[in-house]
This record gives sequence, structure tokens and C-alpha cells, in this order.
Amino acid sequence: MKHELLSLKPKEEEALFEKTLRPAHIDEYLGQTRIKENLLVFIEAARKREEALDHVLLYGAPGLGKTTLANIIANELGVEIKTTSGPAIERPLDLLIMLKSLKPRDVLFIDEIHRLSRVVEEILYPSMEDFTFDKVLSKAGSTKSTRVKLPHFTLIGATTRSGAISSPLRDRFGIVLSLSFYSDDELTAIVKRSAGIMGIKIRHEAAREIAGRCRGTPRIANRLLRRIRDFADVLGDGTISVDVTKDALDKLGIDSIGLDETDRRLLETLMITFKGKPVGLDTLAACLSEEPQNLEEVYEPYLLQMGLIGKTSRGRVAAPRAYQHFGLRKEGDFQQNLLDGF
Ligand SMILES: Nc1ncnc2c1ncn2[C@@H]1O[C@H](COP(=O)(O)OP(=O)(O)OP(=O)(O)O)[C@@H](O)[C@H]1O
Ligand SMILES: [Mg+2]
Repeated sequence: MKHELLSLKPKEEEALFEKTLRPAHIDEYLGQTRIKENLLVFIEAARKREEALDHVLLYGAPGLGKTTLANIIANELGVEIKTTSGPAIERPLDLLIMLKSLKPRDVLFIDEIHRLSRVVEEILYPSMEDFTFDKVLSKAGSTKSTRVKLPHFTLIGATTRSGAISSPLRDRFGIVLSLSFYSDDELTAIVKRSAGIMGIKIRHEAAREIAGRCRGTPRIANRLLRRIRDFADVLGDGTISVDVTKDALDKLGIDSIGLDETDRRLLETLMITFKGKPVGLDTLAACLSEEPQNLEEVYEPYLLQMGLIGKTSRGRVAAPRAYQHFGLRKEGDFQQNLLDGF
């Protein structure tokens, strides 16, 4: 269950479903108020000057709305968007083909931009700066380079890992936006909007309950909504009430603040197995039988945001709030906690 609710990338069937819920215009994109206000100014200015928008880099945990926002930006600019991803651009030629297919002012969206190969990343720099591409031709042992002119385009890059972007690449983006987790009010509105599109009846309090237990993330809110609908259809009268919601979330193993089984095991490992001492990412991942990348990208951002863990130079530690959430005594009392049968 945890992998379904918190998986890094949606599976094919879910990706199709997400498309139906994806807002197409900026006024349907709920939350992220400051980002939207600024973007509207930049988009308006680019349109007035009849120029391509500056390149945009979007940071944010999985499911916060980077792909959605990239599509909205293109839509608001009134241009086409071509989508690819870092690992999909294997050779410089693949990049050239994409770039040549753009019309002036179009958007090229590169998802997972931190996964570009080094050679592709370096060939991207002049494309972003001067809209030129140095094409290298090898013939009979000698190499010749020709300069190809490109249309003025906007690159939108998305990444879940801010630390994984090299600074020369980051510096070439004029607009850098970091998406934050959503508030309960914003998520309540997102759940109600999704329910409306899906033709689901949901009570306000039920939408709020989902909002408080979806890790501040619209994708997880939508996933929970779909699962809870199943419970409401089978066990209730089809309307999602707060009781059905609480019951379903408990059955799905999601606790009162949205933590799932892996989160709880992670915190218990820090608090109990390692007695509150700092633990390195690889050790923690091995203890939990999880991929380090999955812990870092999927689990940790929310635990950090909630103040449940901290990162130190020597590793991860559980924060006082984690002890409170589990009803455990302070750091010194671990043996007692264990004796108490935690
Ligand atoms: N601000 C928002 N308002 C309404 N719905 C949203 C918003 N942001 C995201 N969503 C919903 O959440 C789903 C996931 O969003 P999206 O695919 O854009 O996330 P992402 O940041 O690109 O994730 P990933 O890092 O996995 O690529 C979308 O289907 C969309 O319906
Ligand atoms: Mg995406």
C-alpha cells in the first residue's frame, strides 16, 4: 500500500487519471500564491515584448505540481510545449532534434533535469544563452564543428532534488521557483475540485480530513480521494463523509498527521534502534529496506517540513516533535521506552 500511495512516479493508469484532474489555467492552479503572482507578471511582460519567457527552473517534492505548472505556463504564454526528460536525452543529437522542432517562443520542458548527462548538459548551455548549438561532425578521423541557429525558446526544467543541479546550469535560469507544500485550506479546495471533476459527493469536513493527512501534496490528496471513494461506495452510500474518511485512512495505515508505515518505521529506527543518535542515509535506507534516493526524495522532505527529523553533518536525527507524536519520553529515556514495550 505504501508504494502505491507514496510512489515516486505515477503508474500509467494513474498518469491518465492525473491528466483529467490537471488544471489547465493559472486560476485553477490552487495555492503557491506568490509564485503565481510573480509568474503572471513575467508572462505578461514577455507577451507584451513579444519575446520568449526567460528560462524557468522548478524545484519541489514529487506531486507538488511542477509538470502541471510547466503546462500552465505554456498555455498562458499561448505557445506549444514539448516535453522530455533528463534521462531520455541520451545524445546531443537528441537534444538538437528537440530544439529544432520548436517554434519561436515555444516551451521545451525537461523533467528530471538533474539527470541530464554531463555532455548533454554542457551542450545545452549555449542553447540557453545564445540560442545556438555547436554540432560536431566526425568524418574520416577528423572532427568539424558547425554552429546551428535555434529559435528563441523557453526552457522549463523540473527537479525534485535542488542539490543535484550543477551551479553552471542553475545560473542559466532567469526564473527559479521553489514549490512548497500546500496548506490544509489549499488542499481542501484541491480535494473538492477533484471530487467535482470526478463526480464524487464529499462533505467539507471529509475534504479537510484528507487535506490534513496527505503530506501537503496534491497528488497524494487525489490518490487518497480515489481510495476513499472505494470505501464510501462499498461500505457507505457513496457520499464521502468524515467518518468514512477517517475509517478508510486508518485502514490504509495513514496516521493523524499523514505518516504511513515507512515514515513510522523510519522515525522509530532513529529514536529507538539508534537511540536518537545521527544516522547516515545509506544506513537508514538499509535498515528500512528502501532505496536511499526514495527516502531522500519521497519521505524526508515532508518529515523535515513537519519538524519531525533534522539533518546534521553526521546524519539524520529525530526531532523532539517526533518523540511527542509517538508519546515517547525525551532522548535519555530510551531504555525505559523499550521496557515500556514501545
Ligand atoms: N496547485 C494545484 N492545484 C490543483 N491540483 C494540483 C496542483 N498541483 C498539482 N495538482 C494535482 O496533482 C497532480 C500531480 O501534479 P504534477 O504531476 O504536476 O506533480 P509534479 O510536481 O510534476 O510531480 P513529479 O515530481 O512526480 O513529476 C496533478 O494531476 C494535479 O491534478
Ligand atoms: Mg512531474
